[in-house]
Amino acid sequence: MRTFFVTGGAGFIGAAFVHLILREFSDVRVINFDALTYAGNLDNLSGLDSDRHTFVRGDIRDPMAVKESMPMDVDAVVNFAAESHVDRSIESAHDFVTTNVVGTQVLLDAARGTRARKFCHISTDEVMGSLSDGSEEVFTEDSPFAPNSPYAASKAAAEHLVRAAHHTFGLHTLITRCGNNYGPRQFPEKLIPLAITNALQDREVPVYGDGRNVRDWIYVHDHCRAVLQVIERAPAGETYNIGARNEQRNIEVVESILKALNKPSSLIKFVTDRPGHDRRYSIDPGKIEKLGWLPRAGWSEGLEKTIDWYIKNPQWLARVRTGEYLDYYERQYGERASQK
Ligand SMILES: NC(=O)c1ccc[n+]([C@@H]2O[C@H](COP(=O)([O-])OP(=O)(O)OC[C@H]3O[C@@H](n4cnc5c(N)ncnc54)[C@H](O)[C@@H]3O)[C@@H](O)[C@H]2O)c1
Repeated sequence: MRTFFVTGGAGFIGAAFVHLILREFSDVRVINFDALTYAGNLDNLSGLDSDRHTFVRGDIRDPMAVKESMPMDVDAVVNFAAESHVDRSIESAHDFVTTNVVGTQVLLDAARGTRARKFCHISTDEVMGSLSDGSEEVFTEDSPFAPNSPYAASKAAAEHLVRAAHHTFGLHTLITRCGNNYGPRQFPEKLIPLAITNALQDREVPVYGDGRNVRDWIYVHDHCRAVLQVIERAPAGETYNIGARNEQRNIEVVESILKALNKPSSLIKFVTDRPGHDRRYSIDPGKIEKLGWLPRAGWSEGLEKTIDWYIKNPQWLARVRTGEYLDYYERQYGERASQK
């Protein structure tokens, strides 16, 4: 039996990854280590094979907690745990630095101490900054670091620590840098689930600035399959950009969602732009494609599946909206996480 130590596995992408590996491999067990912040949701883990899935509530900033939970010789540590919302990092960068930077170093130290075979760090295209609109520029693995938000800066710092752990200590590290994910179970503070869930209730859909910012969108399951491919096949020390060659302007994304839901475009409300808002991301996925990975979900299909999931899972949304999903903190741990 192989053991994967997954952090942040109660969040949007981490949970999708945990579902994927337990479904695809009968010889894998997962230790899912997550602090259950407002973004962690145990509802995301329902339906998993409980014999091969162990959930541990723990904080990656806590070296003792990590050390106690990470067994010797795990096959892979996969680090999804992070503060992930740019707007929140603009309000306060504190948790972004402690979790994304310090927490990553704590995990690297633990992985060395327990002789983990591989350490895969989930990063973001945002570490490479912003590309000019209308240009042919793309992000490659060699693009310089130019993070523009506190979130992106914290993710860039974490990448440097991962790189250093490989170079200095020979840890078998891997880094993946993905574009914007969409799919089921994404917390409705991010653009696509916010637009879907607001439109479903005939609420206004806020769009930053002129709405013409470009993001390179990928269906979450395709991202997770790419991470798995990197863990299985990539040489130590390598970095891979992951994208589905799918650039869309924010306003186009929102218009597509409203069209699919048969809602009027009058629901769109342009709001004051985010400070320092990156204009355009575009990923060259040539390197990961050479590893034998290709995305499976086309944009229309992926968006349709995503919309369908939110329509068919009103309880998930209701529990998030009311904060009921946080009740387990009180029941299990005698404290309540805050959504704010
Ligand atoms: N969402 C995207 O579009 C996107 C794109 C590229 C890269 N990423 C990266 O992928 C990873 C996962 O993103 P996501 O969208 O699923 O994020 P998310 O915010 O939905 O989930 C983050 C998870 O990490 C947990 N967590 C936070 N702080 C923790 C701590 N100190 N200790 C342990 N667990 C903690 C949370 O409880 C939550 O379950 C992040 O590293 C993010 O930077 C995300």
